[in-house]
Amino acid sequence: MSKKTSKSKHVLRSTQWFGRRDRDGLVHRSWMKNQGIPHDQFDGRPVIGICNTWSQATPCNAHFRELAEHVRSGVLDAGGFPLEFPVMSLGETLMRPTTMLFRNQVSMDVEESIRANPFDGVVLMMGCDKTTPALLMGAASCDLPTIGLSGGPMLNGKFRGEDIGSGTHVWKFTEMLKTGQMSESDLIDAEACMSRSAGHCMTMGTASTMASMVEALGMGLPTNAAIPAVDSRRKVLARMAGRRIVEMVRENLKMSKILTRDAFENAIMINGAIGGSTNAVVHLLAIAGRMGVKLSLDDWDRLGRGMPCLVNLMPSGKYLMEDFYYAGGLPAVIREIGKFLHKKALTVNGRTIWENSRDAVNYNEAVITPLGKPFKPHGGIAVLRGNLAPRGAVLKPSAATPKLMKHKGRAVVFEDIDDLNKRIDSPKLDVDASCVLVLKNCGPKGYPGFPEVGNFALPAKILKKGVTDMIRISDARMSGTAYGTVVLHTAPEAAEGGPLALVENGDMIELDVARRRIHLHVADAELARRKAKWKPPKPHADRGWVKLYCATVTQADQGVDLDFLVGHSGAKVGRESH
Ligand code: FES
Repeated sequence: MSKKTSKSKHVLRSTQWFGRRDRDGLVHRSWMKNQGIPHDQFDGRPVIGICNTWSQATPCNAHFRELAEHVRSGVLDAGGFPLEFPVMSLGETLMRPTTMLFRNQVSMDVEESIRANPFDGVVLMMGCDKTTPALLMGAASCDLPTIGLSGGPMLNGKFRGEDIGSGTHVWKFTEMLKTGQMSESDLIDAEACMSRSAGHCMTMGTASTMASMVEALGMGLPTNAAIPAVDSRRKVLARMAGRRIVEMVRENLKMSKILTRDAFENAIMINGAIGGSTNAVVHLLAIAGRMGVKLSLDDWDRLGRGMPCLVNLMPSGKYLMEDFYYAGGLPAVIREIGKFLHKKALTVNGRTIWENSRDAVNYNEAVITPLGKPFKPHGGIAVLRGNLAPRGAVLKPSAATPKLMKHKGRAVVFEDIDDLNKRIDSPKLDVDASCVLVLKNCGPKGYPGFPEVGNFALPAKILKKGVTDMIRISDARMSGTAYGTVVLHTAPEAAEGGPLALVENGDMIELDVARRRIHLHVADAELARRKAKWKPPKPHADRGWVKLYCATVTQADQGVDLDFLVGHSGAKVGRESH
């Protein structure tokens, strides 16, 4: 290894491939040279994998080929050797039955791609919802020096003089179509106005939440969360990530030094302060599981309780990610809630989270409200328990209707998504606004894949009365861009024989968010009688990925990882290929 080009104190992993003077070294170098790589690039400089989720079928990540070039430039600036590699991409808007079915599959792709190749460090390029947790999970199981780089949100949607938000306005517009307040041609006009630049959803949906989690966990450079995808500063950030990962390799700053329990606790609190998506709950549980950090639903409730929501962004509020960036972005939020955080948590730039944020400025207090005058008093995720959800369920108070947070109502039950689609708008549906809508068999195993259908639209006859919210309970997730008094992630799920499977039309259900309670008012003996009659649904597949997934996926309270993927194996591979 040349001492001139690498100041690493440790022997780099890549020297096992490119530093050899035998037949295998020849094989590893020679074929690489067909890309025009000069021999002196194999001199022991850090080899950086650029893990790219580019795909034209993932529109939120469709600008990643160009963004990856800026990462490459940064790696070369710092004397590294960049190698871009593709992994399966997950486009939220096109993939059936749900991208969540494939999050763990991508994580396996990432893990094995990193481990099998001669990388010393990795830059993870992430954007659309599931690409972020999938890449973090896979990389965590290898534990090399790693930086997360998000693709950035789209510019604000603009429609007829109004700002419109990805997802959030999809739900609003489709309700307006149902009630006749909007025509089909208006809807087609709105489509183009909603998605008018490269980037991911620009509401505080799951993609923006997870980009914020990358920064909050210390896995991304400061300002990673909010710079718009098309802002030149996103390209600068990509270049800086390329430069920094080379230094991280030289410092041997691995993921496990950053993804500590303190980092996860910070991320949970910051999720509360930004009014982040409920999807962050399952994703952070899964990433922690790969890292060997013990994290539970109770941590979410404990750390989020009392944390006010400071960020006034759709779906809970008014503004969008572009406004959030101009207001100061995540560093301004971190500075505002600094007194709650673990200030010494290390981040990828080698500084602590507090060193990165203590001088941040809030340029717009309408967008990022001060801690003393928060946008909403409760920002965290409420974890509910009771005989309907013995292993927990979640609700996002900042997106819910205050008067429904304590409510008792008659259950109107849909056995699965097909049943719901068939009957929800029927004039014959026996429902009024005080009822509790229950949707079963939409959990990890039941759908399969744990889709975002928990925020299903209200029955047309209720919407026509001007009612905008009802309590909905399911074992599904909801889109981070959605809103409503929606109880999600009920565990165990119906397809596992959880109590949700036993609810019948007319049962009374009580929700009491302040007491974190969800209760089915049916006697234990009656529930036992129903359980004895319950039969599990037929398997969804007898081969392939779906079979493996359904046989091994864990429940929502455990992060919905496959049971055999929890934990990590490091990056060592002892044997050669020839
Ligand atoms: Fe990709 Fe929303 S659809 S982030």
